[in-house]
Amino acid sequence: ILKEINVVKEVIKKIKSNNQSIGFVPTMGYLHEGHLSLLKKAKEKSDVLFLSIFVNPIQFGPNEDLDKYPRDLERDVELAKKAGVDYIFFPNELKMYPPGYSTYVMVEKFTEGLCGAKRLGHFKGVSTIVLKLFNIIRPDIAVFGKKDAQQLRVIEKMVEDLNLDIEILGGEIVREKDGLALSSRNKYLTLEERKEAVVLNKSLELAELLIYKGEKNSNVIIEKVEEFINSNSNFGKIDYVEIVDYKNFEKISELSGEILIAIAVYIGNTRLIDNRILNL
Ligand code: PAJ
Repeated sequence: ILKEINVVKEVIKKIKSNNQSIGFVPTMGYLHEGHLSLLKKAKEKSDVLFLSIFVNPIQFGPNEDLDKYPRDLERDVELAKKAGVDYIFFPNELKMYPPGYSTYVMVEKFTEGLCGAKRLGHFKGVSTIVLKLFNIIRPDIAVFGKKDAQQLRVIEKMVEDLNLDIEILGGEIVREKDGLALSSRNKYLTLEERKEAVVLNKSLELAELLIYKGEKNSNVIIEKVEEFINSNSNFGKIDYVEIVDYKNFEKISELSGEILIAIAVYIGNTRLIDNRILNL
């Protein structure tokens, strides 16, 4: 476990001088099978595997769950060892953002809709920490989950626009048996809420079915998804249901090409997200 930025940089220099490639998976810890699947993918494609665990304060809004975000370093270390992680970067908040910290990265357009519209400043915080981590660890490849499809696309765009020599890979969404996408935040759900949380994936299954039956109108799909969520949950409150072109993140009225159907729903006080990326 490396906590000091300078120490990481020394380790990285040695790895690079041995001509070994570096794979990297950034996380906020409290690891689950979703994170582990990304580590597996990164390990297959690199010689040395880095994991970062850092609950990044600048990507949380004032009314979000920064203080109660779940943490369990000991357990994370065990899981990381089993997953074949070579180094865990576990930095201190004050070292990452010392007093007077002033520089932020902003990926425009791609952050205007979906979670970007609902969590103001969130993606500015994400792209900033990810660029900082990239500059410290200098990975050859980095893996992000499709669970956070907008985040994955924002990072791809940042890498492209800022000419970074890093290959970004997307990992498939890992789900519970009943279809709920794994998330550290599932821990907040009560038993009843947990049962109801399947409504997100079920509503996306409905969207897929309608699309494969020939529906091409975005608004029709959005309406049906919203109707389904509202009539199949007591604790559910829709934050958004949106359909965009996955390549440029523009809203589309007629479905074609690579599309992203993304939803965010509060189940009680817990905000959950899920999506489908479809190739039509
Ligand atoms: P965190 O929520 O810890 O997620 C770390 C990575 O795991 C992300 O790439 C996320 O998309 C992926 N992930 C989460 N749940 C998943 C699932 N069920 N299946 C597959 N992958 C899943 O995302 C963040 O942290 C932060 O924003 C971060 C990128 C670390 C920047 O702070």
